Amino acid sequence: MNHDPGAGVSGEATASSEPLLKLRGIDKHFGAVQALYQVNLDLPAGQVTGLCGDNGAGKSVLTRCIAGVHQIDHGQIFFEGRPVHIRTTRDAASLGIETVYQDLALADNLDIVQNMFLGRERLRRGLLDEDSMERAAAETLSSLRVTTVRSIRQPVASLSGGQRQSVAVAKAVMWNSKVVLLDEPTAALGVVQTKMVLDLVRRLRDHGLAVMVISHNLNDVFEVADRIAVLHLGRMVAEGPASGFDRQSVIEYMTTGGKNGRSSLPVGATVKESA
Ligand SMILES: Nc1ncnc2c1ncn2[C@@H]1O[C@H](COP(=O)(O)OP(=O)(O)OP(=O)(O)O)[C@@H](O)[C@H]1O
Ligand SMILES: [Mg+2]
Repeated sequence: MNHDPGAGVSGEATASSEPLLKLRGIDKHFGAVQALYQVNLDLPAGQVTGLCGDNGAGKSVLTRCIAGVHQIDHGQIFFEGRPVHIRTTRDAASLGIETVYQDLALADNLDIVQNMFLGRERLRRGLLDEDSMERAAAETLSSLRVTTVRSIRQPVASLSGGQRQSVAVAKAVMWNSKVVLLDEPTAALGVVQTKMVLDLVRRLRDHGLAVMVISHNLNDVFEVADRIAVLHLGRMVAEGPASGFDRQSVIEYMTTGGKNGRSSLPVGATVKESA
């Protein structure tokens, strides 16, 4: 895969109705713990999917299965309609799937450019090509309108939480990515920084990427999500357009799996009965 930094935010949306990423019947267990049961999920291009669920529901495990950190036990992943096998994080990266984890994985002592190119440095005649990396990093940040950072040569340790999160997102999209998975991107952030990250999420969507956002904060979910998917104890209990849900129904799916007293489904949503 020829990575072309800067091209990942060029704004090509996939016009077809086939979801960019489609999961069918995904099972994952760890020893005696069945973390995912027969999970189906669609991540369409140009849309933000909010993945909700209580602690331990399986959101991070599902994310790590898509990212190639965990291997699925059963099921099939389709990318642009083709069945694919994602066995390693390299497999995911070469498909254009990038993940931003809550714990960020940025190196504090390195500056922004070094972080964005960590492990994928550009060389010119055997030396680091600092100018070209600096230009590509600056172009990516400006295309995402990340403008509050004073210098891309400042160490990441000196950034605010929201700025760090923005750099992590920019790093993910710099590598020609088509799918960006964000696990709790706003958990540690204040109001202003949260807004900054949510704006960035919308911009990724507007660039035609398929975006999945995990958040415990339903205000954040309802603010950015075009679609909502809810996991309950490892099962996908509801999935559909965000307009078919309200906070109450999402909370109910999160806490009961939707079995207590809900006679009707959100409009347009599909529910999977537990086996
Ligand atoms: N590496 C692992 N080994 C064993 N069990 C695991 C592992 N990772 C996750 N699990 C288990 O899988 C289940 C789902 O965990 P997961 O981290 O996906 O939850 P989550 O929905 O992300 O929760 P939270 O909102 O608290 O982050 C939990 O029961 C957890 O204990
Ligand atoms: Mg988690």
